[in-house]
Amino acid sequence: MTKNNVRADGRRRFLRDTITVAGGSAILGSSMLWPRPGFAQDPPGGCPNPPSGGTPFQPGQDQRPIVVRKFISSLTSAELTTLQNAFSALRGLGSNDPRTWVLQADIHALYCQQCANDTTQIHFMWNFFPWHRCYLYYYERILGSLVGDLDHFRLPYWDWESFRSLPSPYRTPAATTNTLWDTNRNGGMQAGGKLPVNDGSQSRLNLLYGTQDFATFGGTLGAAGSCEGNPHGVIHNDVGQPYPILQDMGDLGFAARDPIFFAHHANIDKVWSHWNGLAKSTLPPTAYKNPTDPAFLNARWSFYDENSKVVSISAADVLDHESNLRYTYRAFIFRFPQIYEIIPCRLICCDPGPLHEPFLQFEEAERTKVAELTREHATVALVLKEVEIPPGVTGTFEIHAIRGEQKLLLGRFGIVGEKGNREKDKARRMTLLLDASSAVPSLIARKQPATLRLRGVTRGAKQFKLVAESAELRITRPAQKER
Ligand code: C2O
Repeated sequence: MTKNNVRADGRRRFLRDTITVAGGSAILGSSMLWPRPGFAQDPPGGCPNPPSGGTPFQPGQDQRPIVVRKFISSLTSAELTTLQNAFSALRGLGSNDPRTWVLQADIHALYCQQCANDTTQIHFMWNFFPWHRCYLYYYERILGSLVGDLDHFRLPYWDWESFRSLPSPYRTPAATTNTLWDTNRNGGMQAGGKLPVNDGSQSRLNLLYGTQDFATFGGTLGAAGSCEGNPHGVIHNDVGQPYPILQDMGDLGFAARDPIFFAHHANIDKVWSHWNGLAKSTLPPTAYKNPTDPAFLNARWSFYDENSKVVSISAADVLDHESNLRYTYRAFIFRFPQIYEIIPCRLICCDPGPLHEPFLQFEEAERTKVAELTREHATVALVLKEVEIPPGVTGTFEIHAIRGEQKLLLGRFGIVGEKGNREKDKARRMTLLLDASSAVPSLIARKQPATLRLRGVTRGAKQFKLVAESAELRITRPAQKER
């Protein structure tokens, strides 16, 4: 045990180590001695600064071949072995090597609420997509160089929209001999259970792909986009250990200790890439485009590269992952809607009942228009912009439309735990994208329209009042296959 661990604030980590080592004590070999030092970012310890400065990345400097990132179940057995070897080498690095497993996971932790400030926040705002793309890029390079194939090694992704359980190489064998396994997981998922129906499903992705503005999809300077809540957050919460333990995937401070984190985030990255890929000249010029605000483009972060050198990279550098970062994803098909109609409404608080649940209020003309446009089959998304998430709220939530006896699920979203100094907890904002297709008639009803009921569905998910900056319905209808 290194000096780093023997700190008052390292007690919880020490307990974790003891448990892991004891659990693997029957297995001999270096894997049971995985180094577990850290930057001691765990509360109530300090938060050292993340790496800073370093050689700036220059677009074009990476001249490796462009290689496809694959989904896990499509890896050949040789590729799977390489992946396992890469994680094994990573876990086996010296405890002070900045590339090692825990120190890399801690880099992610240092950007979480417990350590980050307003300028270093990378969750609950538009830095979410680019920061994680940068992080994965250097992590991928480290893994690749450790197996001597920097040129061709690429991270695989967990395509949860079609593969609904934890990929088996990450689950079995459930022992430290398996470098992709992690002990701190939800028991059901670890045993091969499936994700809840709504979480990161193909229909969820279709709803996201039908959303043309970045703010709703990927966030703004001050609010998370809807992708961060579902699929991102819900799947973190599904895979990690639930409240009150909140590890590893269940808490951002520990999440990157689970190798599945990188497969999860590679899929999130794929969703962003696919979403960008939907831009085309017949659509409005901002549709499916990233923000052009310098505040978004010029955000810059430092990482350790495969030579343990500090390097820096900006959001602008990673927008074209194929040219600049040398990986790509397989093409995909999405049916473009013929109609994309945005109908504003207001989220009015509240019904007179004891629950104070809000409902949607429409101008009469808008109400008629919605009724008209949804007469035939249409997909109707309800966007609640910049919903306020009070300090300390974590967990998975559902929103239902309630009218009389009728209760329709509109969607789920997850706020991943950020266990930490509670005094650092702040309110955050998240835009929610909900599927209101079957609830439209009751949502637009003149008399006693449906109210929106928010409920925490994971233990410890504290109830909060649903307040949004604004609300709108987005009506889309599928068209012929166009690509
Ligand atoms: Cu930075 Cu999935 O979290």
